[in-house]
Amino acid sequence: MASPVPVMDDISLAALTADPYPSFRRMREAASAVWVSDARINLVTRFEDIMTIERDHKRFASTNPGSLMNKVMGHSLMRKDDEDHQVERKAIEPSFRPGVVKNQWTPVFDGIAERLIDGFANGGETDLFGSFAAPMASLCLAEMIGFKDVSWQDLAAWSQALMDGVSNYGTEPDTAQRAAAASQAVNAAIDAVLDHHRNRPGPTILSSMLHAEHPHSVEQIRANIKVIIGGGLNEPRDSILTTVYGLLLNPDQRARVTADPKLYRTAFEEAVRWVSPIGMYPRRVTRDTVLGDTQLKQGDQLGICVGAANRDETRFSDPDAYDVFRDRHAHLGFGAGPHFCAGTWVARQMVGEIAVPKLFNRLTKLRLDEDRPAIMKGWVFRGPVSLPVRWEV
Ligand code: HEM
Repeated sequence: MASPVPVMDDISLAALTADPYPSFRRMREAASAVWVSDARINLVTRFEDIMTIERDHKRFASTNPGSLMNKVMGHSLMRKDDEDHQVERKAIEPSFRPGVVKNQWTPVFDGIAERLIDGFANGGETDLFGSFAAPMASLCLAEMIGFKDVSWQDLAAWSQALMDGVSNYGTEPDTAQRAAAASQAVNAAIDAVLDHHRNRPGPTILSSMLHAEHPHSVEQIRANIKVIIGGGLNEPRDSILTTVYGLLLNPDQRARVTADPKLYRTAFEEAVRWVSPIGMYPRRVTRDTVLGDTQLKQGDQLGICVGAANRDETRFSDPDAYDVFRDRHAHLGFGAGPHFCAGTWVARQMVGEIAVPKLFNRLTKLRLDEDRPAIMKGWVFRGPVSLPVRWEV
């Protein structure tokens, strides 16, 4: 017998931001969906329930006409279903294929990682957030999109402003204004290179959009590039830092991984499970329906907490531990179903094959800074906002 969605009004946004995992556990134990008053949304936290949702987008849609994302970024593929979604998804895919990632993007990412490490290798200490992970993710993304003359700092600032705008629910005028300014700046950066990519087809995302069987309109280009800037920068950045953090916290695992470099790929995958960079994304209930033990109503907004599902003890043993050598089960860090992350192969290569292995190879005595602990933050998006490290020079 399904019950109405239970209300939890003792879970604050501040507690979720500091450390969501104890609250996620309570929600998983309580019901298939839980109304968290402070977040003003129904949260879904169990692995199997999320799989049910991702297998049935007729009942649980991505299309969401009132969504703030549509207002801030335009109507992107992330908020479409069926044919509308597939046409746009197919258009961008040539830039993300494993072969293209290997042949086109790997040498570019490789050069960027080397140059960044050269910049701090003689210093003996750094905060990897600002010196390595953020510029790495931003510079790689600018190359993939096909931007020219956009600094990594500007791209990172646009990404942050757009994501803040999307999660602002229209209440903070400053945040809304910064998001609008970032949106204009992205449009201008696109306009500056469109003719170039129109005339010279290549592996970039802008080129794929322009030369697809069903080419994107300018409006589609603008919306989808904004989604890619919002979703393709912070996640690789955060997963670089979380992988390094997981390995530095666990010297035995680090020793085994550095001795057998093909394990870096698994170290990355485990980091995305352990602290999922996208912890929550939305879906809309299209008709009155039952999910697990809970009755949902048409129009309910659901927050799909993959960050919680990836610690579901019915699927992962000792889920709070970072364990590269755990029994492998597929996780939900890249989502599932038709909207499964388009950038998965890129992220695996950029983080698991290039950024993290290069860092450990170049700085063999890397260790956590004993005086400045790492700081983790967030639940909708989560990762280290500071990762101070030291090494012998
Ligand atoms: C570790 C890194 C990454 C993680 C954890 C991640 C995670 C995700 C997740 C969970 C979704 C599903 C969202 C939803 O269903 O609403 C998604 C979608 C998406 N991601 Fe990623 N992502 C990563 C890297 C990237 C990169 C590097 C790019 C592009 C350069 C990218 C581009 C996209 C796009 C375009 C979508 C939308 C796909 C669609 O709607 O069909 N992602 N990502």
